[in-house]
Amino acid sequence: MAEFKRFYDTFKPDHYNIYLDIDRDKKTITGKTVIKGLAEQEQISIHQKALKVSSVQLIDEPLSFKTDDKNDAINVQLPKAGPVEITIEYTAPLTDTMMGIYPSYYEVDGVKKQIIGTQFETNAARQAFPCVDEPEAKAQFDLAIKFDEQPGETILSNMPELKHENGVHYFDTTVKMSTYLIAFAFGDLQGKTTTTKSGVKVGVFATKAHKANELDFALDIAKRSIEFYEDFYQTPYPLPHSWQLALPDFSAGAMENWGLVTYREAYLVLDPDNTALTTKQLVATVIAHELAHQWFGDLVTMKWWDDLWLNESFANMMEFVAIDAIEPEWRIWENFQTSDVQAALKRDATDGVQSVHVQVNHPAEIDSLFDAAIVYAKGARMLVMARALVGDDALRKGLKNYFAAHQYSNATGADLWNALGEASGMDVESIMNSWLEQPGYPVVTAKVENGELKLTQKQFFIGDGEDKGRQWHIPLNSNYQDVPAIFKDNELSLGNYAELKSKNGNQPFRLNVVNDSHFIVKYDDTLLNDILEHDDKLDNMSKMQILQDLKLLAEGKQVSYAKVIPFLRKFAGENSVVVNSIIYDLAYDLEDFVNPGSNEENNLRKFIGQLSAKQADRLGWEPNANDSKDDQVTRRLALGGMLYAKDNDAVNTAHKIFSQYKDNLISLPADIRTLVLSNEVKNFGSDELFEKLLASYRKTSDASYKNSLCSALTDAKSESVLAKLVSHFEDSETIKPQDLRGWYRYILDNDKGQQLAWDWIRNEWQWLEDTVGGDMEFATFITVTANVFHTSERFTEFKAFFEPKLNTPGLTREIKMDTKALASRVDLIESERDAVNAELSK
Ligand code: BES
Ligand code: ZN
Repeated sequence: MAEFKRFYDTFKPDHYNIYLDIDRDKKTITGKTVIKGLAEQEQISIHQKALKVSSVQLIDEPLSFKTDDKNDAINVQLPKAGPVEITIEYTAPLTDTMMGIYPSYYEVDGVKKQIIGTQFETNAARQAFPCVDEPEAKAQFDLAIKFDEQPGETILSNMPELKHENGVHYFDTTVKMSTYLIAFAFGDLQGKTTTTKSGVKVGVFATKAHKANELDFALDIAKRSIEFYEDFYQTPYPLPHSWQLALPDFSAGAMENWGLVTYREAYLVLDPDNTALTTKQLVATVIAHELAHQWFGDLVTMKWWDDLWLNESFANMMEFVAIDAIEPEWRIWENFQTSDVQAALKRDATDGVQSVHVQVNHPAEIDSLFDAAIVYAKGARMLVMARALVGDDALRKGLKNYFAAHQYSNATGADLWNALGEASGMDVESIMNSWLEQPGYPVVTAKVENGELKLTQKQFFIGDGEDKGRQWHIPLNSNYQDVPAIFKDNELSLGNYAELKSKNGNQPFRLNVVNDSHFIVKYDDTLLNDILEHDDKLDNMSKMQILQDLKLLAEGKQVSYAKVIPFLRKFAGENSVVVNSIIYDLAYDLEDFVNPGSNEENNLRKFIGQLSAKQADRLGWEPNANDSKDDQVTRRLALGGMLYAKDNDAVNTAHKIFSQYKDNLISLPADIRTLVLSNEVKNFGSDELFEKLLASYRKTSDASYKNSLCSALTDAKSESVLAKLVSHFEDSETIKPQDLRGWYRYILDNDKGQQLAWDWIRNEWQWLEDTVGGDMEFATFITVTANVFHTSERFTEFKAFFEPKLNTPGLTREIKMDTKALASRVDLIESERDAVNAELSK
């Protein structure tokens, strides 16, 4: 791969005057940018992408320039190096790419409308105005925007508006910041605002397709999150306002633009009276994530994209720290355990996975760095380990110093470790570097040999893996005293097991208590039996952890998959979110081992029914205002299990509930809405029902209801219905490109629809690339395909289709990883199928 030059080396801007004239009708942008800065040499480069530059001037002198589209550049020849003021005039198209400056489409009361918004991370600011588009090139910005304005329209940006003159909106000068965090938006918006204790104005904005009360939840969470961070970071929020804006078309989930955070509608606005608790929790963590970035990412920014983890891992940890502080009853760390931890452990076990810290140059590669399971989930877990090591006091003290030292500037991972090291007096860097710089994680084997309790560490793989002798500094978190805090060698002998056990109150020996360290444990039979003999004393997290580690060991072929099944029976009937989430994850994984319509599948249905019956009975279909979080989540899982088992009672009750609500389906209680709709489609589906649900999907602006409808419709059993759905994949008036991956995955996962979806993606790859190709989500179409497939036939087809695409920038890593993951799943299923089915028939 060619070396990409950093333009900041040639030119260091410190101030931009940006004027934009945007015409929605003609779909054009006309712009003039004045950049003041220091030219380090006579030949400088400034970023641009798809800009038609008409002139470049040094104050009033025309300069000779050349645009170089391959390198996203305007190369400018200056008379001499030194301080310069360069004026660039240009035009650009306004395109539907969800990148740069782009329109979002929506409807209110049948009238089609649009909002213009921006998305610049990682490298699309250069599509809006010429700039040195690198995180280190921090400068101040004066933004002036004109557009084909209609009465009543609102415009928002990072800073407050100073004046509105001759149709031009002038915004206050920004603080020193990176280009990727500039944002603005305009259109017919509604908003609600409030003020934090410290006087920061907080607002939530959305289109008028939403009811006003749908903004309330986000406003409350945003306000309290900012108050929390100001206290936790001991550093004031640096801007006058913090706007949150929901955009109808949005490629990522949300984006931390400084002072103007943008969101998918699904992650900001919600009906406060009928939204599942888990959805509210998700929205709250997304808001807290983006607001964590206002300091960590915006005030202090990574020097280069290789330290992207510094932004994302940290924000991903802080979203849980913040929400745990402001909504302690939600026990939000459980969500971290059931989602992020599981994703990280799975992905990070495939040989060839990236480390959290990765070198990167090419712009397309930068976007492919955002591997959620690694940069977000593993990175956050790594920081959770660091937090547990140093404690919250040192973390806060360290962060305060880190912000003070690097504010309005940039930092690297080493700077963070130094700050935490100084605050705690520990060598944080060398412990954390073993996690940051190396891919993968260890399995710690604990065994009793000749009476001695011994530990060893070795890299854990699912599928083939080359053992490179990697070692980690593992925080062991044992329940036994006298076990070292950190295990960094290959082997460790802890002494006589019987003596140790009696010294520790005869409890069974455990490692990684509370599951905060990034490793799994393989106990030998003596130790595992000890643990299980005391299973009445096991807390929920421990039960979850035992299942989690067994699941991974089974996937890695270190224990038989069939051996895991009795544990599901053993721990079923629990009332805990963490235990039940992993039980059902494991149970539905077994679907891959049975053929649709076979006897084996019937056994699996029966098995899942057995796991679910007691809880389904206890909780019933009627959500209750006093239900705990455990009950709400368990109800959905258990009733889902009963429907999967085709239990007559469950099927009929869901059908009855559907009939009660048939004229107002959106008001079906959100906790059971997807189940009821999907049951109806599966068991009582008709063309009329299908048309009705699809029409509701098109019409509703409630994202969580939309999700329920998508998930129900794609459960259809009729191939002609499924084909009709696939025919809407490229019809953005029905399925927005931002939502397409969900549709594709659901239909691929339906055995009646798999062929249709698979044919579609292979035939329409070019269309897909043209539509979402510039997008960080593009590669995940491959991931979901590999996650659904599990037969050798599909594996062959998968390779035949994707291997020729291995050299596509931004797809290489994903194709390699997914090919490996799929290969190991197919192999696992073939070798374990008989044993699993024998166990299921018991
Ligand atoms: N900075 C990211 C969004 C982003 C990533 C934009 C890569 C462009 C390229 C933002 O802070 C983020 O992490 N968003 C997440 C949602 C989040 C709550 C986990 C996302 O978009 O998935
Ligand atoms: Zn983020």
